[in-house]
Amino acid sequence: MTPHVTRHGAAVTRPQREVLNGHKGLVLWFTGLSGAGKSTIAHAVEQRLHEMGCRTFVFDGDNVRHGLCSDLGFSPQDRTENIRRIGEMVRLFIDAGIIALTAFISPYRADREKLRRLTADGDFIEIYCRCPVEVCERRDVKGLYRLARANEIQDFTGVSAPYEEPESPDLILDTHVSSLHECVENVVSLLRHRGVIRDRT
Ligand code: ADX
Repeated sequence: MTPHVTRHGAAVTRPQREVLNGHKGLVLWFTGLSGAGKSTIAHAVEQRLHEMGCRTFVFDGDNVRHGLCSDLGFSPQDRTENIRRIGEMVRLFIDAGIIALTAFISPYRADREKLRRLTADGDFIEIYCRCPVEVCERRDVKGLYRLARANEIQDFTGVSAPYEEPESPDLILDTHVSSLHECVENVVSLLRHRGVIRDRT
């Protein structure tokens, strides 16, 4: 609670924004190991939704850590603070009626569950990009697993730091067996099924 600071009500409400946008605001929260495909899928889903006329925005770990969270490292406390800040930002985007898509490892179940509790029912859609660490390591897109194995990076998720799998995510994407196209379709189907989007053709 912050003393001497009063919240200001909005003249334009979230439902009014959602009517204008033609869809509701929510977050598609992609979680999983580094190299599991979170960013690739989030950007591909965004493109698809954009083409359908949705208002979207992607928050990506590698970008946010250069700006808003540039003071944070990878200790458990810093990762929790990273997710807390992103969560606060995402909540504002949801209020703006936007479909936010996030691509953060977000390794701690408690941090993700806290976000679910902080958002209204149905606003937080947790999507687990499931991929064995051996596969992520073999891909090693950024060369970071090699550095982690050589002890040149400490506390690397999946190697020397934990990843806590979601217990009941809204969707699981097995990114080592499904194609990018299949993953995107699975997400879009879920959104259709939940009535978040409708085809406008
Ligand atoms: S999180 O754990 O706080 O959610 P976040 O998604 O923001 O992590 O950042 C992860 C990205 O930072 C990885 O994709 C990788 O490129 C880079 N990175 C650098 N050091 C580490 C580390 N020790 N553990 C995990 N990722 C790291």
